[in-house]
Amino acid sequence: MPLSILMSNPVYRCIVLCLVLMATVRTTRAQTDDTEFYPYDDSTGTARLVSSATAMETAWDLVRNPLEADIPGDAADVARIRRGFRLFIQTPQYAPMLSGNEMACGHCHLNAGQRELALPLVGVASAFPEYNKRAGRMFTLTDRITGCFMRSMNAVGATAMLSAHDPDQVAGMISGREEVRDLEAYLDWLSEGFAPGDSLPWRRRNTIGRADLVPTAMLDSARGEKLFMEHCANCHGENGEGVAIGDIKAGPLWGPRSWNDGAGAARIYTLAGMIRHMMPYVSPGALTDEDAQHISYFINSHERPVYPFKSSDYLKEEIPGDALYYDRKK
Ligand code: HEC
Ligand code: HEC
Repeated sequence: MPLSILMSNPVYRCIVLCLVLMATVRTTRAQTDDTEFYPYDDSTGTARLVSSATAMETAWDLVRNPLEADIPGDAADVARIRRGFRLFIQTPQYAPMLSGNEMACGHCHLNAGQRELALPLVGVASAFPEYNKRAGRMFTLTDRITGCFMRSMNAVGATAMLSAHDPDQVAGMISGREEVRDLEAYLDWLSEGFAPGDSLPWRRRNTIGRADLVPTAMLDSARGEKLFMEHCANCHGENGEGVAIGDIKAGPLWGPRSWNDGAGAARIYTLAGMIRHMMPYVSPGALTDEDAQHISYFINSHERPVYPFKSSDYLKEEIPGDALYYDRKK
């Protein structure tokens, strides 16, 4: 069968793609040296990230793997770090009470939060507490993780949380839980050797430069859809549902199993900043700033789970212009 016919059928296309990807993985995985990035002058040599320059062949790489590392300290603390790591990459399995969708932290923070230009979390624990604009108050790392659960993991849609009446009640039900402490232990471990005030040059780089932002009224969903079908649908599915590639599965990009409409990724420019630097998975950085924004607009023009407490957000700060799921009339 000619390749073009093979590739026009979604099932065959996926099989071909998987074979190509697996072959790349096999041949190049052993020889990649991922520790050259952001060498940080620190005697433990811990503050390094997996490179963003390579793609599928480093999908499984970690700079520090807590399941293999010989971690000194109290056995209970070590066990907590390891549970936190598992929770990070397989969130719905390990935190079913707090998951109202299919998302894992590691879907958006690639390589378990250790990859350059993919929302890395190395060193980030040392930056908290920090002011949070959406909440209008200081946020601890616990508050931040709790917020991720409420929005990115749609905990507000998990059965156990449905009876809650306000955001503080939900936050209270989440923040004291063991899963949150485990995740915090993993993130603290990723920040070992960092002190408050240290510069983290890899932080907040998943952005589009101010001068390159396209006003949301000028973004074009039809153009975004065309680009999505061309560059993304192979792995994410034509309905954004996410397709498995070997043992890695892309997360859903919209629909009832995706992040909710109060999440950071539900903002056009925030999602565009992720897409621009970390996707397409096989050639990250290949899209233009503008195309990333049209695609983000298309993805975030779909229905997704509703965060029911949006009217309690941005009470002190203005609602950002790209938070299109928010009602501006309040
Ligand atoms: C749908 C994508 C997505 C998922 C899933 C997700 N996050 Fe995030 N996360 C983001 C984005 C985007 C940001 C950047 C800030 C924002 O919200 O605008 C972020 C920021 C963070 C930060 C702060 C980083 C900094 O530099 O200040 C932490 C900590 C964090 N996430 C932890 C988690 C944890 C733990 C989970 C799983 C429980 C998780 N995230 C799941 C998208 C996601
Ligand atoms: C070769 C396969 C592949 C292609 C092509 C691809 N992605 Fe992904 N994408 C993935 C995988 C796999 C993940 C999850 C990564 C992980 O869990 O380590 C992912 C994660 C994401 C995420 C994080 C949230 C989620 O639901 O997983 C977004 C957003 C995303 N991709 C958008 C895009 C967009 C937009 C395009 C097209 C410009 C694209 N991707 C192209 C494989 C791909």
